[in-house]
Amino acid sequence: MSATKAQDIGGLGHSVRRKEDARFVRGKGRYVDDVKLKNMCYLALVRSPYAHARLKGIDISAAMEVPGVLAVVTGKDLEEAGLAWMPTLSHDQQMVLATGKVLFQGQEVAAVVAESRFAAADGAAAVRVDYEELPVVVDPHAALEKDAPVLREDRDEKSNHIFHWEAGDRDATDAIFDASDVVVTQDMVYQRCHPAPLECCACVADWDAVNEKMTIYMTSQAPHAHRTLFALVAGLPEHKIRIISPDVGGGFGNKVPIYPGYVVSAVASLKLGRPVKWTEERSGNLQSTGFARDYHMHAELAATKDGKIRALRVKTLGDHGAFNAAAQPSKFPAGFYNICSGSYDLENAFVEVDGAYTNKAPGGIAYRCSFRVTEASYLIERTVDVLADELGIDPAEIRKKNFIAPEKFPYATPLGWTYDSGNYAGAMDRALEMVGYEDLLKEQEDKRGRGELMGIGISSFTEIVGAGPGKQCDIAGIEMFDSCEVRIHPTGKVLARIGVQTQGQGHETTFAQILAEELGIPVGDITVEHGDTDTAPYGLGTYASRSTPVAGAATAVAARKVRAKAKKIAAYLLEVDEADLEWKDYAFRVKGAPDKTKTMQDVAFAAYTNVPEGLEAGLEAVDYYDPPNMTYPFGTYICVVDIDKGTGDWKVRKFVAVDDCGTIINPMVVEGQIHGGLTEGFAISKMQLIEYDEGGNITGGNFMEYLIPTAVETPHYDTDKTVTPSPHHPIGAKGVGESPNVGSPAAFVNAVIDALSPYGVRHIDMPITSDKVWKVLRDAGIQD
Ligand code: CDP
Repeated sequence: MSATKAQDIGGLGHSVRRKEDARFVRGKGRYVDDVKLKNMCYLALVRSPYAHARLKGIDISAAMEVPGVLAVVTGKDLEEAGLAWMPTLSHDQQMVLATGKVLFQGQEVAAVVAESRFAAADGAAAVRVDYEELPVVVDPHAALEKDAPVLREDRDEKSNHIFHWEAGDRDATDAIFDASDVVVTQDMVYQRCHPAPLECCACVADWDAVNEKMTIYMTSQAPHAHRTLFALVAGLPEHKIRIISPDVGGGFGNKVPIYPGYVVSAVASLKLGRPVKWTEERSGNLQSTGFARDYHMHAELAATKDGKIRALRVKTLGDHGAFNAAAQPSKFPAGFYNICSGSYDLENAFVEVDGAYTNKAPGGIAYRCSFRVTEASYLIERTVDVLADELGIDPAEIRKKNFIAPEKFPYATPLGWTYDSGNYAGAMDRALEMVGYEDLLKEQEDKRGRGELMGIGISSFTEIVGAGPGKQCDIAGIEMFDSCEVRIHPTGKVLARIGVQTQGQGHETTFAQILAEELGIPVGDITVEHGDTDTAPYGLGTYASRSTPVAGAATAVAARKVRAKAKKIAAYLLEVDEADLEWKDYAFRVKGAPDKTKTMQDVAFAAYTNVPEGLEAGLEAVDYYDPPNMTYPFGTYICVVDIDKGTGDWKVRKFVAVDDCGTIINPMVVEGQIHGGLTEGFAISKMQLIEYDEGGNITGGNFMEYLIPTAVETPHYDTDKTVTPSPHHPIGAKGVGESPNVGSPAAFVNAVIDALSPYGVRHIDMPITSDKVWKVLRDAGIQD
């Protein structure tokens, strides 16, 4: 078999000898549902049918009569143990099981543990709950009105207002608006949607009374952080808790928070002394676990007549549901929403966000998004199109006119971030070329002449990923570093353990490639482990595309620490001074005598058998990496749609995605990430919405109403890249997983609006379903 150099496949890893090595994405082959333990019993949750109601009483007698039922747990039981409430990641507290009243439909009211799944479900159905209905608030604007019922009686503040947050210079921004030629404004809602991972949440809690140790197999994106939270809530020492996160069937932010099902399973296992398994049902997942977005946004741009954008002003109301359980760094109540100045060089900007409680499921999780970045990107990319429309300037031209120029990096934005590197015009030029922009514009003109509806949508997003510098970012007080531990065995085989936790992103492959590149050891000789708190070094977990920027950096740095020690041993073996050695072409070589070399494998054996005096044996290192800055990936997406005038349906004819995530470790993994995220962005823009009626009844709580695009609906994507390395990351890599979900909704929506713009249409809120378009066409009198 002929050797293929890393460059041939366009990625990292000298020791990727065959293309297949880089194409093989490994996994553990075991999900929570595969965990089968002796004496295991099963837990089912009783959920509230009401969105807001007082609990008058819970009768468990019929449930206890169901054959196989072992126990019923209620909020009262938890209250007695001091476990009725748990802290959220956003300084709030959340009921584990309802006490006093329920606050959203689908809320967990009681739990039944039984010998089988079926008995547990029968038991749950037999629990009788007496509710007294209370007035329901589903609109966050109504929630903030003076006469709105106060939902959270447990709080001292007697209002539904959660927080006010702002960034930027209000007065300076106002002054620019007052002095500008043109001001455009646009209201838009980024609707409530849900990551809907293929695997719902699940856990097996196993209390070992002999060793007094709790092991929890759990669908967790952040096992270490979860162990700390369990320790804090349960009062157990951390070394008596082991979280094992096996293969996870998709996370997308949904598996960052701790949910009641996990906590009650642990309590039940402690009580019964048996392993307890909880597997969430699909509707439970959609109805009660972390939803995303629900941001009600008002955007304004001030500009000159010739299209130079001067300032941005944003006012937003976030609907957080019944508990503020947004999973994000604790100092950022609106996440990284202040990335909303996007790719543009502005004189100033001001953004403010308020949060409100409503009778909806809690959350506000970062669904494939680095904490409200998707909302921010959608806002700016939509509003720039509104401005282009107002001024009659081509959307590509107006963007180019306002991009931050490459020589301005590092670039400090008026909203507080310092972008590390970028070449926005470079990515856009490549995308325009790939899509054939000039030809498309001519075709569109012809079609418009014939009354046909064709649209071109552009989105030139800038992202912020890699939380984060510990000083800025923490989860429950723990700074957001990440880690890698590298051990080279005497035979030159490597075991690496990382603090992040993959949910299908392929870390076992890409992190092995980083090590192969740094250590000169073949990928096939490197095993990467993660997801077990008893063995992996402490890390904050995988979400918000932080794995590569933070744990990927830790991996490179840990390998370099190993290499530094290995160099001392190599010098000893070669009988030269350390200063006479160089690391070149994946081996230590004596300068000027390239034949005198030692490979890492040579050194590894010597590290355990023949070390120089004064040096300790072994070849391993650990690194806890605190990044100096975030990384700022970017890209340009261009979407071309055709609208059927008869039905209002819009079809994506072409979609070009040019991404820049700095140095690419594995092109196939990156392309997979882009395709997946684009499909999610497509689904959000066209078909997904978690909606509530006035009574707080959820519509969209099952896959009949909450639609997942299949291969039939999913568009074809043409992808390409530019490479602008991050100057502060050890290998120049930026994150990529979130980019397509962050950048694409605006491209899809801008394309549909562009098709309708000759008829005065400026905005339609997502999801842009065919019936919404049909109504617009009907109202404009332009149907076939
Ligand atoms: O945190 P998460 O793994 O979800 O996101 P990420 O850091 O963006 O990485 C997603 C996958 O793409 C991982 O396997 C990365 O190692 C890989 N990747 C890459 O090959 N090159 C990059 N520049 C960025 C990510």
